[in-house]
Amino acid sequence: MKGFLLSLICLGLAGPVLAEPSSEEPSSKVAWTLETLNFVKKGNAENGKILTESGKILTAKSCADCHNETSSNPQLDGQLPTYLYKQLVDYKNGNRKDPAATMNDWASKLSEQNMADLAAYYGKQAAKPGKGGASDPTGIVSVGDGKRMEPACSSCHGGSGQGEKVDTPRLAGQKAVYLENTLLDYREGKRANDIYSRMRLIASKLSDLEIEQLAKYYSTLD
Ligand code: HEC
Ligand code: HEC
Repeated sequence: MKGFLLSLICLGLAGPVLAEPSSEEPSSKVAWTLETLNFVKKGNAENGKILTESGKILTAKSCADCHNETSSNPQLDGQLPTYLYKQLVDYKNGNRKDPAATMNDWASKLSEQNMADLAAYYGKQAAKPGKGGASDPTGIVSVGDGKRMEPACSSCHGGSGQGEKVDTPRLAGQKAVYLENTLLDYREGKRANDIYSRMRLIASKLSDLEIEQLAKYYSTLD
């Protein structure tokens, strides 16, 4: 039954009919209605670009002051707009808590239109290519682990980690240190904004070593 449900969720067919299994508070206030999807699709990338600049949303900083190649903060270029939009809404509503609260502060200043525009801008940028040479020592990426009822990562994140289906993010080329930290956060429940607890459930079955190896693997993918 669990496997059946998971595959429904994977296909996005379970939709909003499933109740949150693990908590009374919703994990996210974003509901993927056709209206919301169209709203995000119509985000204005040019406005988004202006909003990333210093002095527009953030008093003295630009988004690129933190989201750049040298920091350990997540890469935003080439990420799926729907995923980016959802994260910003979740930060604003407090459903996702940045440990340093920085993103919660920034997002609290953003309107929904601002978030759709920023999502459109970053979605249009070329994703940073990974360094190549990837191999997955865990076997979980494309096969999963039946004994633990662990689904293959690729069944949702795509065969090359490119992201898929509404709000499933791109992982390919993302920084290993960020991927590792955020998987640890899901496992410990510190990050709890994933709808239907999908990532918390998946991460709860992974060891430290597997998390490290999966993070490394996805960071090297193009
Ligand atoms: C002072 C540094 C800082 C600035 C400035 C900043 N961010 Fe962030 N951002 C972070 C950190 C740190 C995280 C990861 C926090 C966490 O683990 O939840 C993050 C996470 C995010 C995420 C989630 C990415 C993912 O893969 O889940 C998005 C989206 C985002 N930021 C967008 C923005 C945008 C848009 C701006 C400019 C309006 C911005 N950030 C400015 C530090 C910053
Ligand atoms: C059932 C579908 C599904 C499967 C299987 C799945 N994921 Fe995810 N994953 C998601 C969704 C949906 C999100 C976005 C959740 C949110 O909104 O926070 C996500 C988010 C993530 C993130 C956060 C990315 C970021 O930028 O912050 C990481 C890392 C991740 N998944 C890794 C994995 C790994 C590794 C596996 C395999 C062990 C896996 N996922 C299996 C659906 C899935």
